[in-house]
Amino acid sequence: MCSVVGYVGKNRSRSFVMEGLGRLEYRGYDSAGFACLNPDDHRLLYAKSEGRLDNLAKELDASPIDGFISVGHTRWSTHGISSAQNAHPHFDSQKKVAVVHNGIIENHRELRAQLEEAGHVFYSETDTEIIAHLFEVLLLSHKTFKPALIDLVNKLEGAYAFICIMQDNPDQMIIVRKRSPLCIGIGDDEMFVASDALAFAGKTNKVLYMPDESFALIKKDMLELYDFKGQPLHPPVQILDLDWDVHEKMEHDHYMLKEIYEQKGVIHATIDFLRNLGNRVWDHIGVSQDYVAKLDKINLIGCGTSWHAARIAQFYFEQICMIPTSVHLASEFRYKPFFTENNALYVAISQSGETADTLEALRLINSTEIPTIALTNVASSTMVREAGGFLLTQAGREIAVASTKAFSTQIATLYWFAHRIALAKGLISQQQMEQAESDILVAAEVLENSLENYKVAIAHTYAKKYAQYEKAIFLGRHISYPFAMEAALKLKEIAYIFAQCYPAGELKHGPLALVDDKTPIFVFSTQDPLVYQKLLSNTQEAKARNGHIVVFAFDGQEELCALADVAFIMPHVKPLLSPLAMTGVMQYLVYSIAKELGRPIDKPRNLAKSVTVE
Ligand code: F6R
Repeated sequence: MCSVVGYVGKNRSRSFVMEGLGRLEYRGYDSAGFACLNPDDHRLLYAKSEGRLDNLAKELDASPIDGFISVGHTRWSTHGISSAQNAHPHFDSQKKVAVVHNGIIENHRELRAQLEEAGHVFYSETDTEIIAHLFEVLLLSHKTFKPALIDLVNKLEGAYAFICIMQDNPDQMIIVRKRSPLCIGIGDDEMFVASDALAFAGKTNKVLYMPDESFALIKKDMLELYDFKGQPLHPPVQILDLDWDVHEKMEHDHYMLKEIYEQKGVIHATIDFLRNLGNRVWDHIGVSQDYVAKLDKINLIGCGTSWHAARIAQFYFEQICMIPTSVHLASEFRYKPFFTENNALYVAISQSGETADTLEALRLINSTEIPTIALTNVASSTMVREAGGFLLTQAGREIAVASTKAFSTQIATLYWFAHRIALAKGLISQQQMEQAESDILVAAEVLENSLENYKVAIAHTYAKKYAQYEKAIFLGRHISYPFAMEAALKLKEIAYIFAQCYPAGELKHGPLALVDDKTPIFVFSTQDPLVYQKLLSNTQEAKARNGHIVVFAFDGQEELCALADVAFIMPHVKPLLSPLAMTGVMQYLVYSIAKELGRPIDKPRNLAKSVTVE
């Protein structure tokens, strides 16, 4: 996934496009590019650079170009390495058409071969360059835009959003959307285009989300929108309350640290928001209270950290609502048989609400009768628009690529939602519902206080110690197993330390062979007495082989702590909320290890915040 930004209008546009790209850099930061039409002679001018947007900004400062129509791009590499050569925009053979693109053209090999046979020469390894060349060919044969575009979109397979500017049509921009997000901000004698409306927040609040499989011809004061058959479309223009407040890191070294510290506050905000919904919750989620009371099956679906939140929440729906619950990895979901179920519900969990794997799974489920809900942090996201209903976490914008506060607000929301369903089913009383809300706030308090307790020791001692290891084993059981998976993901993602997670009971079935003095073992405890005893035995097995043990335990778990070389001990919370209680210390430890290693914590290599390719 990448980000595309475009402008056509009354103003010179470079500063808008560069600022917009900066706001969307969370979508990829492998390279960046800008193209515009020179206001005097309409020549296509461009600049590209490898790496972060700053590099492009420096290049543009050294050799300034600007125009009243322009496009920009930040890239997350899919086809071809990260290099200036593969950076967008890409051009047709005559360098008269510039294209910036987000998505994947699945039949790019076949199209490239056909175009090469017809004499076209390609300068990059990207699938995007094919769009420019194919458009060139089709414009020649069709003469006018509309038929050429209809032909083009019917030849391109995959998921894509692209913007195209042309030297021969200096006041017109073409934009196309199939599956990948794209929206238009309608201003006063100016149009803004972007992968995410955040790019133009503060410039206009009139937003048109491009319908799936549509293209638009845009001038500064004109917008024509068509479906892929060429039929005109007139979707509603939404008035959105878009805001871009400058998200300062404040006194923190990284956004990730700021976001770790914000967790107690945003969990409170989330619970206040949910509590205030009252009975409107059913309108929000688009499912009646009667339907919820009869639920026989819940399905949770997500990727990465959101999938870990789902795995934790499986215990909530099964133990609190007594409803059998399945958790699906969105990236695998579409490729296995799908069985429709009666009295079922699907909850798609996604911080961004844009993750392509989750979105495609949601679309598949939406083609059946089963109701869907999006649980996301972004009210203007595609999932909110496409799911049958939605629940919003109130984490505020999460900027660091590694998810922290989104994860904890997801867990808090899912715990709350499980109780809300239990209330609708008559399994708990209103008083128990209120108790559950306070239990979440207590766990948020423990999250923050434990972090405060251990932060000096972590920053000064443990970060240095564990930064020296090249690999680690993570163990958990029951509800702490998915939490251990989340911890291992965080360590890999921001510290680049290989971390393998197992359910602790599996150790003796093979992984015990890995135990040595070069591989610390991080054990995450639970408060369930039976599971605790089993986890204790598993830890003993590792200790007996000279394993170096770090435990995350709860007050009174002395036997486990006695086995540990290092122990982080938290106060008791409601047992099902123990992952929330451990979240702050776990994230801070991993953050501090990554900092010790000098990693680019907010933007780890090879990653992006919003993953809009499958
Ligand atoms: C890890 C992380 C990712 C995301 C995943 C899904 O820290 O942030 O694993 O959780 O890419 O993203 P969303 O939740 O936006 O669907």
